[in-house]
Amino acid sequence: MRAMKLQSLARGLSRQLLGPRRPYSTVSAADLKFGQPLHETHPHILKVGQITPGISAQEYADRRAALANSMTVGSVAVLQAAQLQYKSGAVFHSYRQETNFLWLTGWNEGDAVAVIEKTGPSLDDYIFRMFVNPKNPREEQWMGYRNGVEAAEDVFNADEAWPINAVGDELKSILNSARLVYTDIQPASSPRLGHLFSDRKFSTTPLHSVMNNLRIIKSPAEVANMRQAGQISGRVITNAMRRLWTREKDLHAFLDYEFTINGCDGPAYIPVVAGGERGNCIHYTINNDVFRDGEFILVDAGGEYGTYITDISRTWPVSGKFTAAQRDLYEAVLKVQRTCVSLCRESANMSLDDIHRITAQGLVDQLQPLGFNVSMSNIDQLFPHHVGHYIGMDVHDCPGYSRGVKLKAGHCVTIEPGVYVPNDDRWPKHFQGMGVRIEDSVCVDDDSPFVLSTEAVKEVADIEALRD
Ligand code: GLY
Ligand code: MN
Ligand code: MN
Repeated sequence: MRAMKLQSLARGLSRQLLGPRRPYSTVSAADLKFGQPLHETHPHILKVGQITPGISAQEYADRRAALANSMTVGSVAVLQAAQLQYKSGAVFHSYRQETNFLWLTGWNEGDAVAVIEKTGPSLDDYIFRMFVNPKNPREEQWMGYRNGVEAAEDVFNADEAWPINAVGDELKSILNSARLVYTDIQPASSPRLGHLFSDRKFSTTPLHSVMNNLRIIKSPAEVANMRQAGQISGRVITNAMRRLWTREKDLHAFLDYEFTINGCDGPAYIPVVAGGERGNCIHYTINNDVFRDGEFILVDAGGEYGTYITDISRTWPVSGKFTAAQRDLYEAVLKVQRTCVSLCRESANMSLDDIHRITAQGLVDQLQPLGFNVSMSNIDQLFPHHVGHYIGMDVHDCPGYSRGVKLKAGHCVTIEPGVYVPNDDRWPKHFQGMGVRIEDSVCVDDDSPFVLSTEAVKEVADIEALRD
């Protein structure tokens, strides 16, 4: 064990003497099979030098260096890959990697552990180890191809890669000499590693808050992926508005299919496709009713591209033409939404919480003249959720990161005011049962917002023109 650790340190040292870490793949993979697309096997998905679409091996290496740079010397970060989830019996869900694991490694398989050990004070003083499922032709014939141990080093640039079965012994030795361990592993929910953390002698600290600080400002490549997701999804939603829909189910299927065939990996989340008062249910996802003439359709949907998502809501009349009441309520929400999108710039010096307060006040100001008996003290009865959240690889990205932080260039957020009027005589009769949400994905820039979902039309005239 100890010999292995010394060998690791020697590798770290030789790397310093020989130059920087390898930024690019060195293996020819053309005639091999891997568990995820690589440039060599899927050049239609990945450009040379990319580990996942749009994200280069160099960017992954920089992310690991940034994590190591936020750790104290002698500390270790331990991340466990997500496990495949089963729907029932042997039927499994599609695999989704744990977000921090994916952000640091690009590795998109379960049964893996990533370990980053901070060995010295300078930026390059760390060791990146991976423990992964080894290749096994017989198991791969049943369960699908795997990346394997060699690819963890040669493609994913681990300094050391081991078969996952070695993780117990190797990690025990690494942890026992660590000054501090950054991890989010819960002993009770980790059969493979739990015992190492349950009767531990080392100190631990949560990793996720360190990761949130690294992930919250998006790189140009990340923004480009979100723009791609937003552009494709926005066009699909606009195309959906051109058609007459009779069933929620059909529109749901259209969105999923069109996101996918137009270049997204697939839908980013189960969409809300709600007719009439079902739009008042914020997370309505059963999508199995019929649309009736005179009602609104509320869609909250977006695709995922290169592991980054977009989050868009649009509301439009089933008939394609707004009634007077629909137009009044819709314009009220749209006016506030436009104002709040315009505040997504560093020069506005606003946090999401600040924008939320402006949204609530804006809705009060818009709704009172329409006959709503509403003020700041009861606006939450009509607008019960926050105006926005951070977006990125997750729809609700960097969970736990404060919405009180002033927005800076590179923060990516949603702006999604909504008004949901219950069938209740406290509210004007002609608005009862209407739900309106208008949501864009936005990247904050210095002096202006960069709207990532601008292809989804939202002006009344533009929506109505789609059916002319
Ligand atoms: N699509 C989920 C949300 O808007 O937060
Ligand atoms: Mn949202
Ligand atoms: Mn949404």
